[in-house]
Amino acid sequence: MKIAVLTGGGDCPGLNPAIRAIVKYGVKRYGHKLIGIKYGWGGFVPEAMPSRERATLDPEEIENLAARTMELTPENVSGILTKGGTILGSSRANPIKQEKGFDLLRQRFDELNLDAVIAIGGEDTLTVAYEAFSQVRIPVVGIPKTIDNDVFGTDTTIGFATAYEIMTDAVDRLHSTAESHHMIHILEVMGRRAGWIALRAGIAGGADIILIPEFPLTLDETCAYIEERRKHGKKFSIIVVAEGYPLSSGLVIQSEQKDPFGHEQLGGVGNRLANLLKEKTGFDVRVTNPAYMQRGGSAAPFDRWIATRLGIRAVDLVHNRQFGRMAAVARNEIVDVELREIAIGSRLIPQELFEELRWLFG
Ligand code: F6P
Repeated sequence: MKIAVLTGGGDCPGLNPAIRAIVKYGVKRYGHKLIGIKYGWGGFVPEAMPSRERATLDPEEIENLAARTMELTPENVSGILTKGGTILGSSRANPIKQEKGFDLLRQRFDELNLDAVIAIGGEDTLTVAYEAFSQVRIPVVGIPKTIDNDVFGTDTTIGFATAYEIMTDAVDRLHSTAESHHMIHILEVMGRRAGWIALRAGIAGGADIILIPEFPLTLDETCAYIEERRKHGKKFSIIVVAEGYPLSSGLVIQSEQKDPFGHEQLGGVGNRLANLLKEKTGFDVRVTNPAYMQRGGSAAPFDRWIATRLGIRAVDLVHNRQFGRMAAVARNEIVDVELREIAIGSRLIPQELFEELRWLFG
């Protein structure tokens, strides 16, 4: 079989380990031929890329489909296991929003003589995969990735473990400086709909208050925790806030310009919150926003492990012609589910979990 692989949406640690496993296993176990499609769905349909992303392509890449592909062999994926990012590049191209986007996709799929596509992505990329499968019968298999961990149908996504490990380290480091200076420190982390990074890193690092999109504490509740700590002689507090935490004035948006999936760029909630807390508590407040550092660099061992195993399952699914499915993790086992599950929504933090952990705040 001739199988294409693509990575779409925001990058994350673990994409290269997944690509490497797909190629090595696909070639060595089954003798399949693998090719990489550059820039996510944009490699098939550059017309669907946001104009700023499209403008970065070489003229050759715009005109020539082959220039948007890459040969993938066990030899040329050798050495990428520990590399961050994705050797295929990524984009936020959305063929659903492009006129005749799926016709172009089908046409280019045929032009490349492909038998299947393995799409590695988050909710947006996998929604395109599902629609392409159901609308124009592209034989597709999905692999879930995103540092946000919010893909429905899987217990975890590639990239999340690394991101929350890096953020746990950040909370640890903020602790000592917050304590020395009697300050409130706010760590702003990613997570637009789901507060998984904030909750996991916050709990693992011993943050005093965690503010997430799903169950947003009010400013008064936050101040009450700080006050409770002061009464117990704790003159510092660490707050972890997810970028999608809504202040009473709403979400804090860095840029109104929406991507092709309709998302604005979030960011800045930490600074807004800091101003409010300074006023209300009298404490000095500092903000740390590691932003894209959460997505960069080498993957943690757990992400390399699940990326490898999800890659292998995806190849098995393709080989057995079980299209329209996604390799997934359930109770620490590798399973596969229907891609259709993506449409159910985002995988959010359950209320019982938040309520249980909230006893550790303050
Ligand atoms: O989807 C992952 C994510 O890291 C989100 O948490 C964040 O809002 C978004 O990507 C930002 O990515 P970009 O700036 O690349 O659009």
